[in-house]
Order: sequence, then structure tokens, then C-alpha cells
Amino acid sequence: MKAWWKDRVAYQIYPRSFQDSNNDGMGDIPGIISRLDEIGDLGVGIIWLSPVYKSPDADNGYDISDYREINPKFGTMADMERLFAEAAKRDIRIIMDLVINHTSDEHEWFRKSRDRASPYRDYYIWRPPRNGKGPGRRLPPNNWTGFFMGDVWEYDEQSGEFYLHLFDRKQPDLNYKNPRVVEEVKEILRFWLDKGAAGFRCDVINILYKTSLADGKRALAVRGIEHYKSQEGNHAVLRELRRDVLDKYDCFTVGETVMVDLDEAKLLCDESRGELDMLFYFDHLEVDRRIAQYVPKKFRAKRLLKVMTKWQRGLDWNALYLENHDQARIVSHFGAAGNPAGGPGKHWRQSAKMLALFELTLRGTPFIFQGQEIGMTNFDFESLDDIDDVLSHGLNGLMKKLRIPGFLRWKWLKASSRDNARTPVQWDASENAGFSGARPWLGVNGNYRHINYAAQKDDPDSVLNFYKNIISLRKSTECLVHGEFAPLYADNRVMIYRRELGDESYTVALNFSFRDVKLPKRAAGFLGGAVVVSTSGRRETEGRLPPWEGVLLKGG
Ligand code: NOJ
Repeated sequence: MKAWWKDRVAYQIYPRSFQDSNNDGMGDIPGIISRLDEIGDLGVGIIWLSPVYKSPDADNGYDISDYREINPKFGTMADMERLFAEAAKRDIRIIMDLVINHTSDEHEWFRKSRDRASPYRDYYIWRPPRNGKGPGRRLPPNNWTGFFMGDVWEYDEQSGEFYLHLFDRKQPDLNYKNPRVVEEVKEILRFWLDKGAAGFRCDVINILYKTSLADGKRALAVRGIEHYKSQEGNHAVLRELRRDVLDKYDCFTVGETVMVDLDEAKLLCDESRGELDMLFYFDHLEVDRRIAQYVPKKFRAKRLLKVMTKWQRGLDWNALYLENHDQARIVSHFGAAGNPAGGPGKHWRQSAKMLALFELTLRGTPFIFQGQEIGMTNFDFESLDDIDDVLSHGLNGLMKKLRIPGFLRWKWLKASSRDNARTPVQWDASENAGFSGARPWLGVNGNYRHINYAAQKDDPDSVLNFYKNIISLRKSTECLVHGEFAPLYADNRVMIYRRELGDESYTVALNFSFRDVKLPKRAAGFLGGAVVVSTSGRRETEGRLPPWEGVLLKGG
């Protein structure tokens, strides 16, 4: 089947923060339908819909209690069917979020599995306690630690055993050594593909299979991961899902892969192995972070180019992204957002455009996260009380235990909290940013009066129109989609790379700094081509890049 998903640009919707239609403060499916024209207008051809399934929302829908029901907060199955149909009218295909490492503890399977004699017992990973010192002391079955910084074993009084949960205790892990679990997942895939889904974004898809439950090696976070990351059993499950279900439909998968390295990724995406079509890795967003994404360190463009080169040249096809519902806003992260509590900074617009040019001139399928196209920034919250995210609270608890002072905890959380991306989309300058008539479930960023969709729609110089233009240019320029990637030059502030296809080539130069950079001769030599686009509107580069400028040149 044709890999149509290579030629389209995707857009991620995080439903609870996208558009509210019934004024309950929570985004919903009719709200999404009402904004399909805006999404279509951007030039997008795929929507990745974050979970809309029935869920008690311990982790905002990534804890599913029924894979075949819609969360009433978001609407009904009839609304969902209407969304498929309305999107199809605009030639937009929808991929669903497939969360199958764990379910909610409120899922029927898990409720039944609490009974030791139930056939569902073995759907999950139950183990007896280890004996501690002293009578009645029960210890968890191993020493692993979880992704939300807490315990991974929860004791269940009813059945006298612990169950494994790598995330929240309300997200018990499924047991992929049980073939019945794999069969259940196949049925779920068929259900959504038959409804019209065009594929799946597969949540934490490289940690499904727990080869062993032995103690983990010493580690600051996720102790034990060597027993379940990218295991052979995991590859086998993916191949089986592909062979028995996915290959029978015109669809694709993009895996979210935790702590994946290039060798693992090559196996997961190798076309001949039939596992995933592409994957999301995290390396590029961690070039200015320590300890995964949590503690900031200095950004250097050359480090970023090195990482991009590794992935651009290492995999045949990449999933490209700079933001999602788990990450900081890119204009606040790699860009120049300015003070989030006040108006946007002087270079906000320029840097948002430069980052758009970056993402949209790489080889792969770009995924734009809601609000990215208008340059939304990190939140302006003032205390932990404003934060909803379960991981941010987990991190705060861990840092407290490590005796990290409050001001530093808050500084780091502000830079990395997942709620940065989850504040409601800023549609206009009216109350609640046009997201809802009621108080939203999570605070709206106070800068919505300056940064909003309505203000940018008819402004030819806006971030929004820049995104539209570059998407349209990309769609009509095969070299920008399929061309090979070649790094040319980088230093602490600037990077230059080229895309090449046959006789055609495009050069991209990006300035990630507040400095007006005069390029050294060698670098300036790469900018000989004709300027196609520049974020500042310049037609000549003259061997320099003003602060936060991005330039696309033909040839050179
Ligand atoms: C990754 C998802 O993107 C994140 O939001 C979620 O908390 C975890 N997986 C667990 O499902």
C-alpha cells in the first residue's frame, strides 16, 4: 500500500484543551468538529487524537477503562463517527491513540483480575510479596521504580498480592506473555480501523513486554528498565499485530518509544521486519536537559544538529515533532518566548517562525501540536496548586525527598511540566480565550490577548500564516519531503543543513540566539543560493543571520 502518510503533515489534538462546545470548561469532540476548517486551512492531512475513550482520568485519558466507549466528557460515539466523516470530507485522516501498555484499574478486565481464580487474573502482572524482616512485613516483588517517580507495585488487599504499574497506581500494566491479551488488542485495533481510523499513535510501545521481573540495576530513575525496554518479546507482539490486523488496512503506526536508542529504533522501524512505520524519540528535546527532560542545561545548536543528523541519517523515515502534550512549548524551550506572564518577548514571533522552518524542512512526517502554529508559550502559573499533571506532582515529591529547595523545584517544574502544553488553545481575545464559556479545567495563559488565532488569521506576517506557507511549500516541493539530509555547519548558536534530491537542493540556516551572527567564511559559503523564505523577510543573507532568523535557500 502507498505510504500516503509520508506526504502529509499531521496535527495533534489534545481534546480536553482544544475547544469546548458545551461550556463545561472541558474541550470535546463537537468542539473539534467545529474547528476542522481551521485545521484543514493549515494544510494538515492527518489528525492524531489523544485519548477520547472512557477513563477515570487519573492520567488525562491515558488510563482507559473501556476502549470501545467515548468518555462522556468528550461526547458520544455518534459524535466520534461524525468527526471521522467530517474530517474525511476535508481529506483529513484520523489516527487514534493506542494505549495498551496499561489499562485503568477501573477497566472491567482489571476489576475481574482482582479475583485470583478469574481467567482475567493473568491479564495483568500479579506477584506475591517478598518477605520482609519481622512478622507480617511484606515487601514489593522487586526494586523497580516508575515513570511517575513513585512505586511500581501496589498491594491489593482483596487478593493478597501486588500488581505492577510502571505509571500511576491507577494504570496497571497488562501482561504480554499472555496470548489472550494480544488477541484482545487485535480486536480493539479492528474496532477502530473499521470505524474509519487511519492508524494509531502507539503509547510507550517499546515497553510492553516484561521479560523478567528480577531486580533492576542501580539508577536514579526507572530502575529495572533493562528488563522491559525494547525486548525481543516486544518486537514479536508488534509483528503479530501488524501481520494479523494492520497489514489488512490502509493505515500506519507511529510509536512513542521510551528511552529508545538508534539501534533499537532501526529494528522497530525496519520495513522488512513489519513492526512500526515510524517512531517518536526524545533525544532532540533533551539536548538542553539533564536527567531526561527535567533539569535545564545550556542549549547549543551544534549539539542539536548532531542529534538531528544521527536520526535523520540513521532512519529511513522519521516522525518529526517539537511539541506534544508531554513537553514544554518549543518557543519557550528552544525559542525566545519572553516572559510568559507578560506579552510575548521581542523575538517571540521570529523564533516561533524559525522553529517552524526547522521542523518543516526535515525528512519525515511532521507532527504539529495544537497551539504550536500560533506560537503558544509555556504556562504562566505561579504555584504548584495551579498544576494538574500527575507527573509534575510526582517529580515535586521526589525532589522534596532529595531535599532540593522549593525555589529550584519550581524553576525546574516550570521549565519541564507537561501542563505547559496542556493549557487551553488560545482562539481569540475574549474571556477564556474563546476556548470555553466556562472556567476551563486548566488555566488559560494570560498572554492570550496577544497570542491568539483570531489575531493571526488575517495578518500576513503572523506565525500562523508562516506555518501555512511553509506547509504549502513543503507539500509542493518533493525535495523538502523526501530529500536526503546533509549537515553542513554548526556552532553554539547557528546550524546549517541541506536537503538533496537528484539535482535539486535546499539549504536551511537557523539562528538559535539573540545575537546578530556574522557567519564565518566557511559557513557563509553555504548560503550562496537564492532565498526562498526568510523569517525576517530579507531577500539577501549577506553572510549574516539576525537574531532568531531562519532562512531557506534554493541550491547554493
Ligand atoms: C505517554 C503519554 O504521552 C503520556 O501522556 C502518558 O502519561 C504516558 N505515556 C502513560 O500512558
